[in-house]
Amino acid sequence: MCGIIGCVGRDDGTLETLVHGLSKLEYRGYDSAGVALTGPGTGLDICKRAGEIDDLRDGLAGRTLSGTVGVGHTRWSTHGPPTDENAHPHMDCAGNVAVVHNGIIENYQPLRDELTRAGHTFTSDTDTEVVPHLIEDALEGGPDPEEAVRTAISRLDGSYAIAAVVAGHEVVFAARNDSPLVLGIGDDALYLASDVPAFRDYTDRVIYLDDGEFARLDGAWTVTDAEGTVVEKPVDTVDWDPEETGKSGYDHYMLKEIHEQPRALRQCLRGRVDELGGAVDIGDLGDLSPTGVQFVACGTSYHAGLYAAGLFRAAGVPAQAFLASEYASGVPPTGDALVVGITQSGETADTLSALREARRRGARTMAVTNTVGSTAARECDHAFYIRAGPEIGVAATKTFASQLAALNLLALATAGGDARDIVPALRDLPGDVQAVLDDSTAPAVAETYEDAPAYFFIGRGLHYPVALEGALKMKEITYKHAEGFAAGELKHGPLALVTENTPVFAVVTGDGELARKTVGNVKEVEARNAPVVAVTDGASDVERYADHVLEIPETHPRAASVLANVQLQLVSYHVAARLGRSIDKPRNLAKSVTVE
Ligand code: F6R
Repeated sequence: MCGIIGCVGRDDGTLETLVHGLSKLEYRGYDSAGVALTGPGTGLDICKRAGEIDDLRDGLAGRTLSGTVGVGHTRWSTHGPPTDENAHPHMDCAGNVAVVHNGIIENYQPLRDELTRAGHTFTSDTDTEVVPHLIEDALEGGPDPEEAVRTAISRLDGSYAIAAVVAGHEVVFAARNDSPLVLGIGDDALYLASDVPAFRDYTDRVIYLDDGEFARLDGAWTVTDAEGTVVEKPVDTVDWDPEETGKSGYDHYMLKEIHEQPRALRQCLRGRVDELGGAVDIGDLGDLSPTGVQFVACGTSYHAGLYAAGLFRAAGVPAQAFLASEYASGVPPTGDALVVGITQSGETADTLSALREARRRGARTMAVTNTVGSTAARECDHAFYIRAGPEIGVAATKTFASQLAALNLLALATAGGDARDIVPALRDLPGDVQAVLDDSTAPAVAETYEDAPAYFFIGRGLHYPVALEGALKMKEITYKHAEGFAAGELKHGPLALVTENTPVFAVVTGDGELARKTVGNVKEVEARNAPVVAVTDGASDVERYADHVLEIPETHPRAASVLANVQLQLVSYHVAARLGRSIDKPRNLAKSVTVE
């Protein structure tokens, strides 16, 4: 989704800092980009382009944009198509004010009508453009720029992270409501961004803004509330290195992140699983004993929610997973229920909105997230961190593995159940994932089936969410039709889609009842001449009916889901690579979806 960067005090190159920051935000997904610079006694210089950062660089070639303060933006279109005109920053009529914005201004149409009647001319389709015009109006009364920006912000309804500069002033102004903004405190310069990677190369000291707060960055930083009262803000230190956001020699972030899963899992489990005694310790969170759990999440995180609900139900605690965007119309939480938002980013608008709805209904809430300081982490009663490290590829990979591991810990610690078998399996999980990565034959499977018109994925029990996730990964990065089904559902309709050209990936582990039934479903597929790819530990006889086998080590069924998913990630990755897709930034998608 849209990304914001701002900086003040970079004597060695404001423009380079802004463009570098934008390149670090590319992973969020975008379709246009732009920058605006100014400084003491100078006007406003602006450049913006539809397309990628390289298109912006082309636009900047041969131009000298100078200034000691500036803002930049990557836009993911909501109001109006991706064009140069709709790209941010947006300006007022006189060209003295530049504004970048993430989120949606819900009352932009009446504001636009009012401003148009007052003689303002608009040049874009965006909701954002009302902001510089409102600031322009407020400046006419002669107040200082901060007053003008505050006045404009006070007129806005909706969600926003906004950064603004006014010609001739060495200040960046920023305001937040329902859309993340973080300040970076460098030794000589100050930064602001929608996400830490934008300035992590320059500083690890950060201040997370809260809703309703306003920041002024000049030689120093000040954070105030909507009334202008100074707010004391803690300065946090981020705990990951800038190198973690590089590709480390891999062709794509996604492949790097798939290979980082053993480390991500170790980080997730470290200090939480007793190596010898088999106990799980997640601190105070372990004292929660919910009478019921509702998981709310989107996309891949929703699949983690389906898996987690299975874990809690197995321990005798009623649990359900909801698509966050549908939660409000679902069953309200009762009694001592806990509502858990699973969100790697901690900023997904649908999930935040579901969590707020849960609080409104009186429930306790918890965020299971990768992002310290995220909105979900701060708004919920409890936060449980999955510690996967930064994930740049739009397709979630290592965060899903870490979510599954973390949710196992949460279930064991809060719902109980027999930890003796699963704890050793969790402890072995990083090594088992490494074994899958080392020996996977996914590239050969991808080569065989790269031309298939559609792919199907089936699984039962905890492997059903893995089937859904396998299909989601395949569709988002290959742009091919893919569907995941509960294996038993296939014969109730989807089997009509299965032909000799459509590979069916079946996740079958162990030799219990679920495996036997899934093998039965595989036979139904095989009888229709569809190619079968079995993801299996070899404990059942599924291989007899399979054209290809993707092996995983034998382990506890809960850990097997994680291992099977790694094989499916690799297949999708290699199909997408063979098709030359934009793997890290799939079309139309964004890493952090901050609109509902
Ligand atoms: C798919 C993917 C998305 C996210 C979804 C929720 O690969 O990444 O489906 O899982 O947008 O994002 P978070 O977990 O940040 O709430």
